[in-house]
Amino acid sequence: MSRKPIIDLKLGESDFREIFEKKVAFFEGALHGLNYEWSDFSRDFHGINPVGGEVRFFQSERLSPPDYLVAIEENQNVIHEYKVEEIEERFRQGASLVVNRFDRYSVLGSRVCSDLAQISKNIVLGNAYVSKGRSRTFGSHWDRHCVFAVQVIGKKRWKVYRPTMELPLYNQPSTLHKSNGVDPDEKLELVVDRVLSPGDILYVPRGWWHETETVGAEPSMHISCGVHTLRLHDYLRWVLMSKADQKIELRRSVSSPEEFGKQINFALKVFAEECAKDENHQQYSLERESLYKRNKLVHFENFISENFRAEE
Ligand SMILES: [Fe+2]
Repeated sequence: MSRKPIIDLKLGESDFREIFEKKVAFFEGALHGLNYEWSDFSRDFHGINPVGGEVRFFQSERLSPPDYLVAIEENQNVIHEYKVEEIEERFRQGASLVVNRFDRYSVLGSRVCSDLAQISKNIVLGNAYVSKGRSRTFGSHWDRHCVFAVQVIGKKRWKVYRPTMELPLYNQPSTLHKSNGVDPDEKLELVVDRVLSPGDILYVPRGWWHETETVGAEPSMHISCGVHTLRLHDYLRWVLMSKADQKIELRRSVSSPEEFGKQINFALKVFAEECAKDENHQQYSLERESLYKRNKLVHFENFISENFRAEE
Protein backbone atom coordinates (compact mmCIF):
# COMPACT_ATOMS: atom_id res chain seq x y z
CA MET A 1 0.00 0.00 0.00
CA SER A 2 1.49 3.32 -0.96
CA ARG A 3 1.27 6.14 1.53
CA LYS A 4 0.82 9.85 1.08
CA PRO A 5 4.12 11.76 1.07
CA ILE A 6 4.75 13.98 4.08
CA ILE A 7 7.22 16.19 2.20
CA ASP A 8 6.21 18.52 -0.60
CA LEU A 9 8.94 20.80 -1.93
CA LYS A 10 6.53 22.22 -4.52
CA LEU A 11 9.12 21.68 -7.23
CA GLY A 12 8.72 20.15 -10.66
CA GLU A 13 11.39 17.77 -11.96
CA SER A 14 13.05 20.45 -14.06
CA ASP A 15 13.00 22.94 -11.12
CA PHE A 16 14.68 20.28 -9.01
CA ARG A 17 17.43 19.78 -11.60
CA GLU A 18 17.94 23.58 -11.62
CA ILE A 19 18.91 23.61 -7.95
CA PHE A 20 20.42 20.16 -7.36
CA GLU A 21 24.20 20.43 -6.78
CA LYS A 22 23.98 24.07 -7.89
CA LYS A 23 22.45 26.30 -5.22
CA VAL A 24 21.07 26.48 -1.70
CA ALA A 25 17.29 26.36 -1.44
CA PHE A 26 14.91 26.97 1.45
CA PHE A 27 11.52 25.25 1.62
CA GLU A 28 9.29 26.76 4.26
CA GLY A 29 6.94 24.33 6.00
CA ALA A 30 7.63 21.58 3.43
CA LEU A 31 7.23 18.76 5.98
CA HIS A 32 3.52 18.31 6.63
CA GLY A 33 1.55 16.82 9.49
CA LEU A 34 4.52 17.06 11.82
CA ASN A 35 3.47 15.93 15.27
CA TYR A 36 6.75 14.78 16.76
CA GLU A 37 7.76 15.65 20.30
CA TRP A 38 10.68 14.93 22.58
CA SER A 39 8.84 11.89 24.00
CA ASP A 40 8.69 10.49 20.42
CA PHE A 41 12.41 11.06 20.05
CA SER A 42 13.03 9.26 23.38
CA ARG A 43 11.06 6.26 22.15
CA ASP A 44 13.00 6.15 18.86
CA PHE A 45 16.29 6.66 20.66
CA HIS A 46 15.74 3.75 23.05
CA GLY A 47 15.28 1.34 20.15
CA ILE A 48 18.94 1.84 19.26
CA ASN A 49 21.80 -0.29 20.56
CA PRO A 50 23.89 2.17 22.61
CA VAL A 51 27.13 0.47 21.59
CA GLY A 52 26.22 -0.23 17.95
CA GLY A 53 28.14 2.82 16.69
CA GLU A 54 25.16 4.98 15.71
CA VAL A 55 24.89 6.94 18.96
CA ARG A 56 27.52 9.66 19.34
CA PHE A 57 27.64 12.37 22.00
CA PHE A 58 29.75 15.51 21.59
CA GLN A 59 30.89 18.14 24.04
CA SER A 60 33.69 20.15 22.36
CA GLU A 61 34.85 16.76 21.10
CA ARG A 62 33.33 13.32 20.75
CA LEU A 63 32.71 11.67 24.13
CA SER A 64 33.84 8.11 24.71
CA PRO A 65 31.24 5.49 25.75
CA PRO A 66 32.33 5.35 29.44
CA ASP A 67 31.42 9.08 29.65
CA TYR A 68 27.76 8.26 29.11
CA LEU A 69 27.34 4.47 29.49
CA VAL A 70 27.70 1.97 32.28
CA ALA A 71 28.23 -1.75 31.62
CA ILE A 72 26.15 -4.08 33.81
CA GLU A 73 26.24 -7.86 34.01
CA GLU A 74 22.77 -9.35 33.79
CA ASN A 75 22.06 -13.08 33.46
CA GLN A 76 25.65 -13.64 32.33
CA ASN A 77 25.25 -11.02 29.60
CA VAL A 78 26.80 -7.58 29.59
CA ILE A 79 24.25 -4.87 28.92
CA HIS A 80 24.83 -1.15 28.62
CA GLU A 81 22.73 1.51 30.28
CA TYR A 82 22.89 5.25 29.88
CA LYS A 83 24.24 7.39 32.71
CA VAL A 84 21.09 9.51 32.79
CA GLU A 85 22.21 12.21 35.27
CA GLU A 86 25.56 12.70 33.49
CA ILE A 87 23.84 13.05 30.11
CA GLU A 88 21.34 15.56 31.49
CA GLU A 89 24.16 17.61 33.01
CA ARG A 90 26.20 17.55 29.78
CA PHE A 91 23.19 18.78 27.78
CA ARG A 92 22.76 21.63 30.29
CA GLN A 93 26.35 22.54 29.43
CA GLY A 94 25.69 22.53 25.67
CA ALA A 95 26.41 18.93 24.62
CA SER A 96 25.04 17.51 21.35
CA LEU A 97 23.89 14.09 20.23
CA VAL A 98 24.12 12.61 16.76
CA VAL A 99 22.25 9.46 15.79
CA ASN A 100 23.59 8.03 12.56
CA ARG A 101 21.13 6.29 10.24
CA PHE A 102 18.11 7.61 12.15
CA ASP A 103 16.03 6.37 9.19
CA ARG A 104 16.64 2.82 10.47
CA TYR A 105 15.13 3.46 13.87
CA SER A 106 12.45 6.07 13.50
CA VAL A 107 9.25 5.94 11.49
CA LEU A 108 9.50 9.71 10.97
CA GLY A 109 13.17 9.45 9.92
CA SER A 110 12.35 6.61 7.53
CA ARG A 111 9.44 8.51 5.94
CA VAL A 112 11.37 11.73 5.56
CA CYS A 113 14.26 9.92 3.88
CA SER A 114 12.04 7.85 1.63
CA ASP A 115 10.13 10.95 0.45
CA LEU A 116 13.39 12.75 -0.27
CA ALA A 117 14.65 9.65 -2.09
CA GLN A 118 11.54 9.78 -4.30
CA ILE A 119 12.06 13.46 -5.01
CA SER A 120 15.80 13.25 -5.66
CA LYS A 121 15.72 9.77 -7.28
CA ASN A 122 18.73 8.80 -5.22
CA ILE A 123 19.60 6.98 -2.02
CA VAL A 124 18.87 9.19 1.02
CA LEU A 125 20.09 8.38 4.56
CA GLY A 126 19.35 10.49 7.63
CA ASN A 127 21.28 11.39 10.78
CA ALA A 128 19.47 13.05 13.69
CA TYR A 129 21.09 15.98 15.52
CA VAL A 130 20.00 17.04 19.00
CA SER A 131 21.44 20.07 20.76
CA LYS A 132 20.61 22.48 23.55
CA GLY A 133 22.02 25.79 24.67
CA ARG A 134 24.46 27.86 22.67
CA SER A 135 26.30 25.03 20.96
CA ARG A 136 28.33 25.12 17.75
CA THR A 137 29.81 21.68 18.13
CA PHE A 138 30.75 20.96 14.57
CA GLY A 139 32.19 24.26 13.33
CA SER A 140 32.34 25.26 9.66
CA HIS A 141 32.64 22.35 7.27
CA TRP A 142 31.33 21.00 4.01
CA ASP A 143 29.66 17.64 3.51
CA ARG A 144 30.64 15.26 0.71
CA HIS A 145 27.02 14.60 -0.15
CA CYS A 146 24.15 17.03 -0.63
CA VAL A 147 22.04 17.52 2.47
CA PHE A 148 18.39 18.26 3.10
CA ALA A 149 18.26 19.60 6.66
CA VAL A 150 14.78 18.85 8.00
CA GLN A 151 13.93 20.78 11.16
CA VAL A 152 11.74 18.68 13.46
CA ILE A 153 11.73 20.22 16.97
CA GLY A 154 12.78 23.72 18.07
CA LYS A 155 14.82 26.10 15.95
CA LYS A 156 18.26 26.08 14.39
CA ARG A 157 20.23 28.82 12.69
CA TRP A 158 22.05 27.86 9.49
CA LYS A 159 24.75 29.87 7.75
CA VAL A 160 25.81 28.65 4.32
CA TYR A 161 28.76 29.97 2.29
CA ARG A 162 29.83 29.52 -1.31
CA PRO A 163 32.12 26.55 -1.95
CA THR A 164 35.87 26.80 -2.33
CA MET A 165 35.88 23.44 -4.10
CA GLU A 166 32.75 22.43 -5.97
CA LEU A 167 31.31 18.92 -5.81
CA PRO A 168 33.87 17.20 -3.57
CA LEU A 169 34.17 13.41 -3.70
CA TYR A 170 34.14 11.12 -0.64
CA ASN A 171 37.93 11.30 -0.40
CA GLN A 172 37.87 15.11 -0.32
CA PRO A 173 36.70 16.17 3.18
CA SER A 174 36.65 19.83 4.24
CA THR A 175 39.13 19.07 7.04
CA LEU A 176 41.88 18.80 4.40
CA HIS A 177 41.01 22.31 3.19
CA LYS A 178 40.70 23.75 6.68
CA SER A 179 44.26 22.78 7.36
CA ASN A 180 45.15 24.97 4.35
CA GLY A 181 43.94 27.94 6.39
CA VAL A 182 40.45 28.48 4.97
CA ASP A 183 38.30 30.33 7.46
CA PRO A 184 34.72 30.59 6.17
CA ASP A 185 33.90 33.40 8.60
CA GLU A 186 36.44 35.70 7.00
CA LYS A 187 36.99 34.63 3.43
CA LEU A 188 33.79 33.21 2.03
CA GLU A 189 30.64 34.75 0.68
CA LEU A 190 27.71 34.16 3.00
CA VAL A 191 24.68 33.21 0.90
CA VAL A 192 22.16 32.07 3.50
CA ASP A 193 21.68 33.02 7.14
CA ARG A 194 18.37 31.62 8.25
CA VAL A 195 16.59 30.21 11.27
CA LEU A 196 14.77 26.96 10.54
CA SER A 197 11.50 26.21 12.39
CA PRO A 198 9.73 22.83 12.64
CA GLY A 199 8.68 21.66 9.17
CA ASP A 200 11.23 23.85 7.31
CA ILE A 201 13.75 22.20 5.00
CA LEU A 202 17.05 23.64 3.79
CA TYR A 203 18.90 22.13 0.85
CA VAL A 204 22.70 22.50 0.98
CA PRO A 205 24.64 21.21 -2.04
CA ARG A 206 27.74 19.16 -1.34
CA GLY A 207 30.86 21.25 -0.98
CA TRP A 208 29.12 24.37 0.35
CA TRP A 209 30.59 25.49 3.69
CA HIS A 210 28.05 25.66 6.49
CA GLU A 211 27.72 25.99 10.22
CA THR A 212 24.77 25.75 12.59
CA GLU A 213 23.92 27.06 16.00
CA THR A 214 21.02 26.72 18.39
CA VAL A 215 18.83 29.76 18.94
CA GLY A 216 18.95 31.06 22.51
CA ALA A 217 18.61 28.26 25.01
CA GLU A 218 16.05 26.40 22.94
CA PRO A 219 16.66 22.69 22.33
CA SER A 220 16.63 21.55 18.71
CA MET A 221 16.28 18.33 16.76
CA HIS A 222 16.77 18.08 13.02
CA ILE A 223 17.39 15.29 10.58
CA SER A 224 20.26 15.80 8.21
CA CYS A 225 19.34 13.77 5.13
CA GLY A 226 22.31 12.96 2.90
CA VAL A 227 21.69 12.32 -0.79
CA HIS A 228 24.02 9.60 -2.03
CA THR A 229 24.31 10.01 -5.77
CA LEU A 230 26.11 7.84 -8.26
CA ARG A 231 29.17 9.87 -9.19
CA LEU A 232 30.95 9.36 -12.49
CA HIS A 233 34.27 9.11 -10.69
CA ASP A 234 33.01 6.25 -8.48
CA TYR A 235 31.62 4.39 -11.47
CA LEU A 236 34.81 4.73 -13.52
CA ARG A 237 36.84 3.46 -10.57
CA TRP A 238 34.47 0.51 -10.08
CA VAL A 239 34.76 -0.44 -13.78
CA LEU A 240 38.52 -0.17 -13.58
CA MET A 241 38.73 -2.35 -10.44
CA SER A 242 36.07 -4.94 -11.14
CA LYS A 243 35.70 -5.19 -14.92
CA ALA A 244 38.72 -3.80 -16.70
CA ASP A 245 41.07 -6.25 -15.01
CA GLN A 246 39.54 -8.89 -17.30
CA LYS A 247 40.91 -7.01 -20.32
CA ILE A 248 44.34 -8.20 -21.43
CA GLU A 249 44.90 -4.87 -23.22
CA LEU A 250 44.89 -3.13 -19.83
CA ARG A 251 47.12 -5.69 -18.14
CA ARG A 252 50.03 -5.21 -20.55
CA SER A 253 53.24 -3.49 -19.46
CA VAL A 254 54.32 -0.28 -21.13
CA SER A 255 56.56 -1.49 -23.93
CA SER A 256 58.71 1.62 -24.45
CA PRO A 257 58.53 5.41 -23.83
CA GLU A 258 57.99 5.90 -27.59
CA GLU A 259 55.02 3.51 -27.62
CA PHE A 260 53.46 4.85 -24.40
CA GLY A 261 51.11 7.39 -26.07
CA LYS A 262 49.83 4.84 -28.56
CA GLN A 263 49.30 2.19 -25.87
CA ILE A 264 47.41 4.62 -23.62
CA ASN A 265 45.09 5.65 -26.44
CA PHE A 266 44.29 2.03 -27.17
CA ALA A 267 43.79 1.19 -23.49
CA LEU A 268 41.44 4.18 -23.05
CA LYS A 269 39.36 3.01 -25.99
CA VAL A 270 38.98 -0.46 -24.45
CA PHE A 271 38.19 1.10 -21.04
CA ALA A 272 35.62 3.50 -22.55
CA GLU A 273 33.83 0.59 -24.26
CA GLU A 274 33.67 -1.25 -20.94
CA CYS A 275 32.32 1.85 -19.11
CA ALA A 276 29.63 2.44 -21.71
CA LYS A 277 28.11 -1.06 -21.40
CA ASP A 278 24.54 -0.91 -20.10
CA GLU A 279 25.01 -4.19 -18.24
CA ASN A 280 27.91 -2.73 -16.23
CA HIS A 281 25.99 0.40 -15.35
CA GLN A 282 23.05 -1.73 -14.21
CA GLN A 283 25.21 -4.07 -12.15
CA TYR A 284 26.92 -1.15 -10.41
CA SER A 285 23.58 0.50 -9.61
CA LEU A 286 22.21 -2.73 -8.15
CA GLU A 287 25.31 -3.34 -6.02
CA ARG A 288 25.09 0.19 -4.60
CA GLU A 289 21.40 -0.10 -3.86
CA SER A 290 21.74 -3.45 -2.13
CA LEU A 291 24.36 -1.88 0.16
CA TYR A 292 21.91 0.76 1.31
CA LYS A 293 18.63 -1.14 1.27
CA ARG A 294 19.40 -3.41 4.19
CA ASN A 295 17.57 -2.67 7.43
CA LYS A 296 14.48 -1.07 6.02
CA LEU A 297 11.72 -0.46 8.54
CA VAL A 298 8.59 -2.58 8.56
CA HIS A 299 5.74 -0.08 8.53
CA PHE A 300 2.96 -2.17 10.07
CA GLU A 301 0.58 0.78 9.85
CA ASN A 302 0.81 0.60 6.04
CA PHE A 303 -0.53 -2.91 5.66
CA ILE A 304 -1.62 -4.72 8.80
CA SER A 305 -5.11 -3.31 9.23
CA GLU A 306 -5.75 -3.69 5.49
CA ASN A 307 -4.96 -7.43 5.64
CA PHE A 308 -7.08 -7.74 8.73
CA ARG A 309 -10.06 -6.20 6.95
CA ALA A 310 -9.57 -8.51 3.97
CA GLU A 311 -9.80 -11.59 6.19
CA GLU A 312 -12.93 -10.46 7.97
FE1 LIG B 1 27.09 19.31 7.61
